[in-house]
Amino acid sequence: MSQRIENVLQEDRRFPPSEEFRAAARVGSEEEYRRLHQRSVEDPEGFWAEVARELPWIQPFETVLDWSEAPRARWFPDGKLNASAVCLDQHADGERAGKIAIHWEGEPGDTRSFTYRELRDEVARFANVLKARGIGKGDRVAIYMPMIPELAMAVLACARIGAIHSVVFGGFSAQALRDRIEDGDCCAVICADGGWRRGKVLPLKPEVDAACEGIASVHTVLTVRRTENEVGWTEGRDVWLHEALEGVTADCPPEPMGAEDTLFLLYTSGSTGKPKGIMHTTGGYMVGAYLSTRMVFDLREDDVYWCTADVGWITGHSYIVYGPLANGATQVMYEGAPNAPAEDRFWDLCERYGVTVFYTAPTAIRAFMKWGDEHVEKHDLSKLRLLGTVGEPINPEAWTWYRRVVGGDRCPIVDTWWQTETGGIMITPLPGCTDTKPGSATRPFFGVDAAILDEEGNELGANEGGFLAIRKPWPSMLRGIWGDEQRFKDTYWSKWTDGWTYFPGDGARRDEDGFYWILGRVDDVINVSGHRLSTMEIESSLVAHDAVVEAAVVGRPDDLTGEAIVAFVTTGGGVEPGDALRQGLLEHVATEIGKLARPAEIRFTDVLPKTRSGKIMRRLLRDIAAGRESSQDMSTIEDAGVLERLRKGE
Ligand code: WTA
Repeated sequence: MSQRIENVLQEDRRFPPSEEFRAAARVGSEEEYRRLHQRSVEDPEGFWAEVARELPWIQPFETVLDWSEAPRARWFPDGKLNASAVCLDQHADGERAGKIAIHWEGEPGDTRSFTYRELRDEVARFANVLKARGIGKGDRVAIYMPMIPELAMAVLACARIGAIHSVVFGGFSAQALRDRIEDGDCCAVICADGGWRRGKVLPLKPEVDAACEGIASVHTVLTVRRTENEVGWTEGRDVWLHEALEGVTADCPPEPMGAEDTLFLLYTSGSTGKPKGIMHTTGGYMVGAYLSTRMVFDLREDDVYWCTADVGWITGHSYIVYGPLANGATQVMYEGAPNAPAEDRFWDLCERYGVTVFYTAPTAIRAFMKWGDEHVEKHDLSKLRLLGTVGEPINPEAWTWYRRVVGGDRCPIVDTWWQTETGGIMITPLPGCTDTKPGSATRPFFGVDAAILDEEGNELGANEGGFLAIRKPWPSMLRGIWGDEQRFKDTYWSKWTDGWTYFPGDGARRDEDGFYWILGRVDDVINVSGHRLSTMEIESSLVAHDAVVEAAVVGRPDDLTGEAIVAFVTTGGGVEPGDALRQGLLEHVATEIGKLARPAEIRFTDVLPKTRSGKIMRRLLRDIAAGRESSQDMSTIEDAGVLERLRKGE
């Protein structure tokens, strides 16, 4: 085990929160964390019922948890609520009516802001437009948009009428969007004409048109006008949002949803070719998003919170849309790139809006580091009080840079480990009580019973590398994979024999203080810039190209993106390997999946190293891609010469 999951990091520094931070924090002492955490795992039903009662229910729940059909949990099953009412109406009809919910800024510098009342009214009108198109409870709606306010509104409008949203990140290709629309059997797509990215219009409507071609289930494509570029139009199916909104009222009562009614699908890569539609339901997800946002970001009424993720990923769902709004927070939302027009754009935004809590990804932090301290130092960031990171392991160097340069050595950093499947943050510091260690996500959040197990399910000791496991259900856990119950069970609940211990697919160790160190994926998933990609999915895309006979895709460490994609490709059909083919393959992958899945490196080889039983020796390829000596046993290799040739890059 410890051979399989490497564990090379040695990091002894500790950073306690300042007394000032501790004194004002929601959880300000070690004793309090321990007490609350202990209660939350010993009496999860009591703990979560109390939290859940802080949300506005349309019909209160009596039952807290039904785990009788494990691993399918049912939380608050007899309660009814509406996620958009939790996020909007409770504030819009109360003291926060005039409080800013979203300060939005477009990449070109245009701005819009919405109070809670304004946002609720916009969402209600949007929801009425969806209704007028015949969309209702349980229908699936794909959303493919840039980071504009209408993206958050589209999500909340679906939630308001009980339609299930399926947001597809705008960087995915038409083909990837099509696969997701088809898998979810979506009846509508909400998109925009385009978005701004590094000074250019990124057209989105042509992708949507290509994605929907010939798909009979899609009766409506609702388009937001953002960039005013020319778009194709299909009469009867296509609708401009601004036209559809004319004369529409803001009178749209939120649909009472069962707590276990599905709120959304979000596709994520797994270890087979086909992406999985992760299902989240309404009650448990909202409870998890609400509490984790409040506690991990130590939110206060006057905070200005900014999460730089895209709503197309789970981070944007939980920590832009649902969590902060459920808490009545004021947040910043930004459309474009961090280096448009210059490398200080984020810090300029932080300064102008007075951002106090800032949540981003290690890849972004490493880019800022590379761009230089001067871009940060140009701006007054004295309002910042808390920093966060998510999506991939953060190297201690980037962590300490973030703390020193961005956080002025005063802001705690919360390194938050979680997944699309977990719905919310699972392992994290609480900023007022945890002595953080650079590179460690530290300790389990409330309700999380984490452990490090070996292949047989035995709990491992301090500092032994093993598999991360979660041993109790939690409210925001996934409820399934859309249309594939068996895959849900096989992927997450079958690693160990009990059938109800959750396997996230990550390796980890726990140190002598009980701090968790995430060691990365142990399956065929790689993490590039915090984006999960399936090596199998990229391989099947490569193999679908006429010139490719066989392909193996692995990750190698990369200073900027965490991991980079390396593809080993064997060609056939008389096609000469070379730069033209390389270019063709990159474009092919971009078309099939999206630019984010393009390999950083393609190595042509006449054969792939295989065992005598015909299995591709992936670990060996990983070693070769990383340029390191391999510790893998070579005795089973079929053709030893292949190794030498690969090493030399022949
Ligand atoms: C990785 C993103 C180390 C991990 C919220 C996980 C992390 C996958 C961290 C989920 C972290 C996420 N430290 N690794 N703080 N956060 N990961 O579904 O491998 O896009 O399994 O969710 O990202 O990626 P996903």
